[in-house]
Amino acid sequence: MSAAGGPTTGGGPSSSAVRPPGGSYDPGATTAGGLAGELARLEAQAALSFPEELRILRELGLDPAQGPLIEVGAGSGAVTRRLRAALPGLAVTAVDVDGGLLAHAAGCGAALLVADGAALPLADGSAGCVLLRYVLQHVADPAPLLAEARRVLRPGGRIVVTEVDASCWGLADPLYPELAGIHAVLSRSQQQAGGDRAIGRRLTRLLRGAGYEQVALRPFATTNDDHPTEAFAPHLGPGRLQPLVAAGALTLSEFALAADRWNRFRGDPDAYVMLLGFSATGTAPR
Ligand SMILES: C[S@@+](CC[C@H](N)C(=O)[O-])C[C@H]1O[C@@H](n2cnc3c(N)ncnc32)[C@H](O)[C@@H]1O
Repeated sequence: MSAAGGPTTGGGPSSSAVRPPGGSYDPGATTAGGLAGELARLEAQAALSFPEELRILRELGLDPAQGPLIEVGAGSGAVTRRLRAALPGLAVTAVDVDGGLLAHAAGCGAALLVADGAALPLADGSAGCVLLRYVLQHVADPAPLLAEARRVLRPGGRIVVTEVDASCWGLADPLYPELAGIHAVLSRSQQQAGGDRAIGRRLTRLLRGAGYEQVALRPFATTNDDHPTEAFAPHLGPGRLQPLVAAGALTLSEFALAADRWNRFRGDPDAYVMLLGFSATGTAPR
């Protein structure tokens, strides 16, 4: 392991001279309530779909013997904490370019490392698994991160990339067609900032292009049969639209329309929502 400091376990992140967070992700301007709102959103988002994501990791045979797992773009550690609780023997290193955000992951038993996923201060072939969850949709070019993950994986090690695709985000019944244009603004603004909310469809080709083998796509669904409708607020509620009003990309009346429809939806006892996520997996060549 090279780098400034290497990972630390349990306490604050080991910090090196890392560029500030880039791409289309700004934790202070992602949702209503600034950074505190974003920390709550990341937590709620992980609580909603982690059981399905864990099922996929288990199906891939991930167990403590196959560690360590490197979680690149771990953010505040919403998934890191859950991974550590579900697989307590698994060594986990949580990596993020944003040391302030990563500091929130302290105390869960994972090693914390402030680093760019495209330049990991980790030795070749030192990891059993690399996880990137909702990271690649924020970077202009995923290829350097996927290449770096392949370098640190040992032969036969697994990569898991979990993402969304704005065109098949899921379904809501009732559906409010008048919101389609409003949600398109969110995708457009992420694209203008260098991200891609339609990355789900590109995942398997990105992994093959980066030299991974046994590439497969594993969609997963989360519904309000298994969670209260309210738990879908991070995805269906108006919170994520608020920064777009502040930025002048949406009008207040568009925001009010979205808030009204969300209130209708969550008050409807027959409302149904199915949220889709996509985990693409691959194996580092032997
Ligand atoms: C939407 S957040 C997701 C956080 C976490 N994976 C989760 O699911 O809760 C995206 C994270 O990717 C991080 N990130 C973006 N580009 C990165 C890079 N090049 N290297 C490391 N982390 C990066 C951001 O700082 C942010 O914490």
